[in-house]
Amino acid sequence: MTVQLKDRGEVIAIQWIPKYTTLERLGHWLHTATFVPLAITGMVLYFPFLQPLAQGAAGEFVRMIHRVAAILFGLLPIIYYIFQPRRLLLHIREFLPNKEDIGWLKGAPAYYLLGKHEAMPPQGRFNAGEKLNGLVMMIAWAVFGITGIPMWFGKGIIPPEIFRWLVIGHDLMMIVSVCMFLVHLYLAVAHPLMWAGLVSMRFGVVSAEYAAEHHARWFYGPKRAREIYEAKKRAAAEGKH
Ligand code: HEM
Repeated sequence: MTVQLKDRGEVIAIQWIPKYTTLERLGHWLHTATFVPLAITGMVLYFPFLQPLAQGAAGEFVRMIHRVAAILFGLLPIIYYIFQPRRLLLHIREFLPNKEDIGWLKGAPAYYLLGKHEAMPPQGRFNAGEKLNGLVMMIAWAVFGITGIPMWFGKGIIPPEIFRWLVIGHDLMMIVSVCMFLVHLYLAVAHPLMWAGLVSMRFGVVSAEYAAEHHARWFYGPKRAREIYEAKKRAAAEGKH
């Protein structure tokens, strides 16, 4: 594809490479569309200052939204598995931590806060931060199900002290997953280095230039990515002297 730059009249060619399948993107947006109402209605039930909204007809409405969204939230990965089982297993493998992630942790402050590209070792299709988000969301799916289903159907049947622990588990998972979601949202829509992530989740493609810079292990393969990274680091160090 070619793009005409407004001010300079220059024409540049962009090579787009596929990153997400249509079903992957649909799954991502449907997950968001169910998670957000679940988080909002969950917070209404959780925070004491929102108690007036959790009572009477308003409370019934909030609980109904929570339950309907919970059914869709729970079914989504199962439906995804039916359509693309190998792709779902690939995501699970992609999200698992490995020793490469330590490099991301060390480099993240200089990279994200100071924009120092040479501080960030080459990343795969998902960088370690995105992997952490994916892992938390997978754990959240399981924990919300394991605690939420008995909270829904077990009231009066499950002993009160066990029920209390289910609610505590549900609440803690809400705190962790909502914090993770807010960081993810900020990086996706507001951080200047990450804007292309949102484009790829919308259109399924990413520019070759962006992939080479931000997902070099995926773009070049681990060996070539490491060689390029070492060369960049050497050049940056020589530039300082
Ligand atoms: C499989 C998904 C889920 C199921 C089955 C589920 C189920 C439930 C049920 C049955 C309740 C009790 C509502 C009532 O008082 O009648 C509840 C409360 C709650 N849910 Fe969920 N939920 C799910 C996902 C979520 C998610 C994704 C969040 C937040 C991100 C969340 C946050 C909360 C919170 C904070 C409460 C209030 C608990 C309290 O009273 O302290 N839930 N949920």
